[in-house]
Amino acid sequence: MTALLEVEGLTRRFGGLAAVSSLTLAVAAGEARALIGPNGAGKSTLVNLLSGTDRPTAGAIRWAGQDVTRRPAHLRRRAGIARTFQNGRLCERLSVLENVMLGALTGLEAGLLDAWFRPVRHAAAERRARELARGALTLAGAEGIEDRSVDALPYGTRRLVEIARAVAAQPQLLLLDEPAAGLNSGEKASLLTVLARVRERGVAVLLIEHDMGLVMSFAERISVLDFGEKIADEVRADPRVIEAYLGREGAHA
Ligand SMILES: Nc1ncnc2c1ncn2[C@@H]1O[C@H](COP(=O)(O)OP(=O)(O)OP(=O)(O)O)[C@@H](O)[C@H]1O
Ligand SMILES: [Mg+2]
Repeated sequence: MTALLEVEGLTRRFGGLAAVSSLTLAVAAGEARALIGPNGAGKSTLVNLLSGTDRPTAGAIRWAGQDVTRRPAHLRRRAGIARTFQNGRLCERLSVLENVMLGALTGLEAGLLDAWFRPVRHAAAERRARELARGALTLAGAEGIEDRSVDALPYGTRRLVEIARAVAAQPQLLLLDEPAAGLNSGEKASLLTVLARVRERGVAVLLIEHDMGLVMSFAERISVLDFGEKIADEVRADPRVIEAYLGREGAHA
């Protein structure tokens, strides 16, 4: 297996706390991977490190064979790593289409800033972004709401628009930080359909999720994080680990 993403010895300390500790992880092109772990395990911290929102204290991140450990977030997006945020980060005052177009522009080769300062390329970039945004909204099952303002959307629809925005950047890897949190069972079923469509495009997905039903329906491989350390990989082959985890989560509830 040639890994698209390779993480080695990744560590992020906040003072005395190692939120992510000596983590090793490989994700293959097109893979459906889930990452589970209790609250505070370091899942969001890992997404921040992989997307370039945060920098590790130690360790390396390789993307398509290149070291991107110090590469800024906008360049990683352009190189094919997209993410959503656990708490959502849509621009409230923009329309649905504008939000998703912003996602598309971040993924364009020329880049938003480049295109912005050149009128001709700007028009071309905007056309392409509009096209990508519409495609992503259709994929996310959120078509027909292009002109609506984001702040007027129902919660479940917002979450789909967030995924559309990430997909519009044409990633090869999509990092989803608890996309099903707060969704009802019908919305979770729709989310699963959307994730399947994302994978049909050949996009690898790293799904962080507490909903084990969703995780088991989606993932080919499951990694477990606890206190910043990866305690298991490929746990589908070892149901005892899942059971132990479910037991603990059950005890939390
Ligand atoms: N910026 C920060 N400064 C200090 N501590 C932080 C920071 N970000 C995260 N932490 C700590 O790092 C640990 C891991 O947090 P993280 O948000 O990555 O967990 P998580 O697995 O995403 O949890 P959840 O399931 O609740 O989203 C926690 O103990 C958290 O308090
Ligand atoms: Mg989190």
